[in-house]
Parts: sequence; C-alpha cells; structure tokens
Amino acid sequence: GLSASGAPVASVAPSASSSSAPGLTILYGSQTGNAKALAHQFKTKADAAGYTNKLVSMADFKPRQIKNETHMVVFVSTHGEGDAPDDAMELHEFLGGKKAPKLPALNYAVLSLGDSSYEFFCQTGKDFDSRLAALGAKALCERADCDVDFEQQAADWSDKLITQLKDDLSGASQQVTTESSASVSQPASQYDKQRPFAASLIESQKITGRDSVKDIRHIEISLEDSGLTYKPGDALGVWFTNAPALVDEFISLLSLNGDSQVTVKEESMSLRQALSEKLELTLSYPGFVKAYQEQLQSSALKSLMDDAATFRTYLSERQLIDIVREHPGKLAPQQLVDALRPLAPRLYSIASSQAEVEDEVHLTVAHVDYMAFGQRHQGGASGFLCERVEEGQEVKVYVEKNNHFSLPESDDTPIIMVGPGTGIAPFRAFMQERDAREAEGKNWLFFGNPHFTQDFLYQVEWQGYKKSGLLTNITLAFSRDQKEKIYVQHRLMEHGKEVFEWLEAGAHFYVCGDAMHMAKDVEGALLHIVEKFGNKSEQEAKEYVLALRKAKRYQKDVY
Ligand code: 2AM
Repeated sequence: GLSASGAPVASVAPSASSSSAPGLTILYGSQTGNAKALAHQFKTKADAAGYTNKLVSMADFKPRQIKNETHMVVFVSTHGEGDAPDDAMELHEFLGGKKAPKLPALNYAVLSLGDSSYEFFCQTGKDFDSRLAALGAKALCERADCDVDFEQQAADWSDKLITQLKDDLSGASQQVTTESSASVSQPASQYDKQRPFAASLIESQKITGRDSVKDIRHIEISLEDSGLTYKPGDALGVWFTNAPALVDEFISLLSLNGDSQVTVKEESMSLRQALSEKLELTLSYPGFVKAYQEQLQSSALKSLMDDAATFRTYLSERQLIDIVREHPGKLAPQQLVDALRPLAPRLYSIASSQAEVEDEVHLTVAHVDYMAFGQRHQGGASGFLCERVEEGQEVKVYVEKNNHFSLPESDDTPIIMVGPGTGIAPFRAFMQERDAREAEGKNWLFFGNPHFTQDFLYQVEWQGYKKSGLLTNITLAFSRDQKEKIYVQHRLMEHGKEVFEWLEAGAHFYVCGDAMHMAKDVEGALLHIVEKFGNKSEQEAKEYVLALRKAKRYQKDVY
C-alpha cells in the first residue's frame, strides 16, 4: 500500500490555494488507450511521491493554456504514416503553428509510443519534443521512443523521471496537496450527439437577395458556457423538431389521434410528441414504404417497389408526406411509429473560427422550401432553423469533429478552396482562422451561385480579405448571369495553368458542397488540369490526384 512504501497518503482535499506550488501536468494523446494508460500509471507514481499534479487528455487541453505550465510530461502515440492521434492533433498543430507562444518557463518530458515496422516511428512524440524545444522549453530528460512492447521501457523511464522531479516539485509547499483527478481532468465539454448542448440562437439572417431563387441564411449560435470547441472544417450537429403542421397532417391523413400513447425506444409518450421529436418525417427512405405497405396491404405501394430504379427515383422526388398523401390508409398509432425511422440530427459545416468568434458558432444554411405536387415542402432541420426557432430560443447542438477536412498544418502552405453555394461555409472558417493566425500562405477561393447581385454570399467579407491581401485570388462563377451556364469547374479550367502551378508549389485543394454533380465535375476538371498543364497521360493524372489525396492535400466535404 501507499503508507507501507512511506509515501504520503493522498487524502487531502483539493485546495484552491494549491496552485501556488509548482504543479505537474500529465498530458496524453491516445488513440487506442496505451498512452492514456501510461499517463495514468505516471499519475499514480506522482501522487505517491506527493507531487501536485493533474492528468489531462490533449482533447480537453486548451492549447493556449500551455503558456501557464511549468512542468509537463507528455505521453503520445503515433499512427499510420506518422499521424498524431485525433485527440492530439489540435495541440500538435498549435505547437507547430504561428500562434505557438514562446515557452521559456516550461520544463518537459516526452514519452512516445509507436510501431517500429512503420517508417515514421514515434513521429508524433518526436514532433512534440522538437517543437517544445524550439519554443524555448527545457527537456527534463531524454525522450523515450517505445515500440509495441513498451511496458518495461515506459516503467523505467517513468521511475527515473519521478526521481529527477524531486528537487523541482517537492519542498515548495510543506502541505502536500493532491488534487483528485476527477476535479482537474474534466473534459472540456460533456456534450455529444446523444447529450447535445441546449445552445441559443443569436441571429438568423437571410443573405441571398430578395429576388434570389435561393433562401440562404447566415445563422449564429451561442456556445457560451458549454465548453464546446471546434476547428475550421468541423461540423455542427443540429437536432430539430418536425413542423407542427406536418405532424398534424400525418395524424389526420391516417385517421389517428395525437394523444394516443405510443412507445419509442422503450419510452412511452404521446403520438404527437413522438412524431414531432423522435421520428424522421421529412426524408423519404425505402424502409418506411416497405413497412407501411405491409401494414396497409396496399398492392399499389407493392408494385411501386417492383422496379428498384423506378422506386429510387420515386423516393428521391418525394418527402414521406407525399407518399402518405398518395396512399392514405388506416393503421394503429404504434404501427406508424414502428414504420418510421428515428429522427437523426443534421450536420452543417461550420462557417466560423473560434479564433475570430470565440464561443459562437456560425452556419450557412440553405432553407429547403419548395413547391411540389401542388404543396409546400420544407427541410426538417433547415425548416426548423430558418422558420421555427426565434432569436434567443433553444437549439440542441454538438460538435462533430472532421479530421479529414482541415487547414494545412503549416500556415505557409497555399490553399485552393472550391465552394459554390453553401459549400462556402468552411472556407469562411478557414479564412477567419488564417486571418487571426496571420498565416502567410496564399489563399484562392472559387465560388459560384446563380446571380452576382442576389447570391454573392459574404461578399463584403471576401472583398475585405482581398483588400487586406489574405485572399490572394477570388474567382467567381455566376451560373445564370449569362446565356450559357458557367460553373466553378469551368473557372478552374480557365485558370488551369495557375492552378497547376499552385499544386506544384504544394497547395492543398479543398472542395465543399454538392457531392452528386459539382464535386464530381470539379474532380474531372482537376484531372483535366493535371493532364494538360502537367503534360501527363490520363493514367498519370489519376495517379497525381490520388497522391494528392493520400498526402491529405486533396480534401472533400461534400454532401
Ligand atoms: P445553377 O443552379 O444555375 O445550375 C450553387 O448551387 C451553384 O452551383 C449554382 O450556381 C448552380 O448553378 C451551380 N451548379 C449546379 N450544378 C453544378 C455542377 N454540376 N457543377 C458545378 N456547379 C453547379
């Protein structure tokens, strides 16, 4: 036991004044849990030695916080081609970025985990070591690079470091205070998909013109007091409720009573509540038609499903309500519930950077609102965000990390951004971030929409960035301002020579927006450009683009 080893027993309550003693921060970035386990073992040793310490996952550590640290032990693993664990990426990037502060007061030690059968063995730990040193921090001991059989090496390294820390960390305070890890290693946010944060809508503003064919909104949401953080490229998950009029129509078309009790995932509630909060009523999906057909024993619905291709088209042109309108019937309330899919939140690419907007999050939302079959149709989440939530009211949200859509690690890397329509969103975040970081890399934006006068989203901001020099080039494709359609991919090809030069200079190429048509056509343009201006065969061009993708220099956020 602890007392048998002569070490102080860690039973003193956390005290606010304990921060005057130099403390140790044990920081871990773990993918599979090994680095985390080693960090915990180190904490046990540090506790036993009576050192004031705290244990924090890199996922919950605010990078700027590092300025306040004096003694830090880092446990971090490496994956794939030298990749940092997801949790470590933010800090890893921060320390390599322009915003990283000088750290003359910091003493540190790094233990890295890896697999020596890979080329970039322990690369992430090596990066942490070299970056901390470059920022002026002092190494307490030599870094340990541990292979798959890391246990003994890690234990020996830890014991040595604990002994070595004695002079630094003991005696500063006679009263040994051991903070409980629960009180200090709180996650930055306890909110996620199943436990969303009840945020409030700050503002919702239409940013397309009065005569536009589109209704696109700029939406601002407050994340105040949530602890939620995001990076440019991440998405916001938005929960919503279905439109009351839509719920009513389902109930009346099927001759139901909204007050009937039903069960959803073992929870009992009224049919009305289930339809408005728990079940998918807008998107159409085959499972519904199948279940609904079985319940109604409708031969008309059955023959609809006979031909798969026709059925696909049928579904794509309709919302669920259209199908019920065309095939109304009588069924029990629980039968309807069982035919419907659970409501799922919608993901929106975030349009802001916290470096600029702090605890706000901005979205660019296309309000899905159209006439079909003589009736008005609205999107589930977009209808909710654009029509049904008032400013100051609640929106349940969470952050969905997207590690496959991020700014380049280096602020000097040029980027090409292709984002027509609402695909512009993450690039507004990218530019806010690069502006705040005073990043020097060149930035080229391709944007498209129907009309210049109606649909130039965030026009004033782009003009400001062009003027300040942040935006090197902005190339526009207003598809309906002339007789023939002009799209972003046409503009890319017009500028193909320069686009290829940027790629050759190391540019990252980003595409956001429509997956079905735009992203495919843009990829076609990219291949064409590489072929033509790189003097390559079709096959070589394909390989070139594939290599870009593998190097994470060609990233897509398409939907
Ligand atoms: P259109 O609606 O005039 O056809 C954003 O939606 C912009 O993308 C609009 O200007 C739209 O043009 C355009 N767009 C439509 N299909 C496209 C495609 N296949 N590739 C690129 N842009 C496209």
